Amino acid sequence: MSDETASPSPSPTGIRGAAAPLAPSVEPRRVTITVEGCGSATATSEERVLVALERAQGFGRLKGLPRKLPVGCRRGGCGICRVRILDGEFRLTPMSRAHVSAADEAGGVVLACAIYAQSDLTLRLETPSLGKTRSLPTN
Ligand code: FES
Repeated sequence: MSDETASPSPSPTGIRGAAAPLAPSVEPRRVTITVEGCGSATATSEERVLVALERAQGFGRLKGLPRKLPVGCRRGGCGICRVRILDGEFRLTPMSRAHVSAADEAGGVVLACAIYAQSDLTLRLETPSLGKTRSLPTN
């Protein structure tokens, strides 16, 4: 595993990811994270998206998941929690370039454990282990 990290780069139209301090500067906002074809999770703007997805899974709100949500290092280093942001704004913390290239990131791919939703988000799971068991919907 590499510990290479990178800063956020420009994102596709309609998706804004920005590096920002971890300390909250305003009251956390409640947001909805929609996982394409799987269900939705509620979150605050100050928690990692992966944490919100795990909680929603535990409460049975992601019924469309083909199998348990894969979770690894929880710090942007292993790449198992890859997602593609389809819509919404998020704050990004460092993530491994070994698992998300600059080109991937420009296409909206990020690591769920490295982002904080700043608005309602729509995303698609892109983990290789999920793709092997069942195809997820595509646009
Ligand atoms: S859990 Fe390892 S990169 Fe997200």
